[in-house]
Amino acid sequence: MSVSSTQVIPESTDVPRHVVIIMDGNGRWATRRFLPRTAGHVRGVQAVRRVLEGCGRKGVKYLTLFAFSSENWRRPQEEVSLLMRLFVQTLEKEVGKLDEQGVRLRVVGDLSAFEPKLQGLIKAAEQRTCANDRLHLTIAANYGGRWDILQATRHLLRDRPDLAQNPDAITESMLSDRLSMAWAPEPDLFIRTGGEQRVSNFLIWQLAYTEMYFTPTFWPDFDAASLEAAFTWYASRERRFGRTSEQLEKSN
Ligand code: IPE
Ligand code: IPE
Ligand code: MG
Repeated sequence: MSVSSTQVIPESTDVPRHVVIIMDGNGRWATRRFLPRTAGHVRGVQAVRRVLEGCGRKGVKYLTLFAFSSENWRRPQEEVSLLMRLFVQTLEKEVGKLDEQGVRLRVVGDLSAFEPKLQGLIKAAEQRTCANDRLHLTIAANYGGRWDILQATRHLLRDRPDLAQNPDAITESMLSDRLSMAWAPEPDLFIRTGGEQRVSNFLIWQLAYTEMYFTPTFWPDFDAASLEAAFTWYASRERRFGRTSEQLEKSN
């Protein structure tokens, strides 16, 4: 990770550099309209486009969206299949546009669980957009924060078996450099739609000092104005990273 909020005090800016979103409430949005839950997921894709454009206009550099958690396999099989199909269709349809707009797309999570066609599409989309730098869009799919910490630990011990005999030599950055989003700065702003106020095993390591914004708005209804409200709230936060307000006032 570029700067660790627990090792160095990061610079605060009014516009968040990295926004992460739990896109929740698709099922309830649909149920309220007497539609199948899956209709909410289909509608949710439009909100992704709106939010991506809103972040682009605002100058957000990294946008990370939670699309499917490592626990979402527990859902009814038809819903899981629809989500996978939607993922494939969206990739097929949108990657060209993303590339034209200078978006670099990455997918993080345990991708080995996906069918080969989806894995191939993901790889192709990542390769096609790998030179882009205007906005880094990351989709977390079959992602779990605990999985991420575990896979980083396994990588570390594979790379440095000597550390097993010398655990005191393990540093924070040895682990954070091996997390699946090691290339991105820590999230500044976390948004969860749909009214629940929990992290649901999203980026648990990386959220150490992230500002947490919760809104009852269901994801398919989340629009440019909803995003702007989150940005306004963020700009009003005092990010202290352990210090006192008085210290901050003096340094400004
Ligand atoms: C989020 O919406 C989308 C996924 C988890 C894939 P939900 O499907 O969780 O919607 P609710 O929370 O049941 O309304
Ligand atoms: C979190 O939402 C995962 C995604 C939005 C992809 P869930 O709807 O699965 O979370 P819980 O089960 O309510 O905590
Ligand atoms: Mg939900």
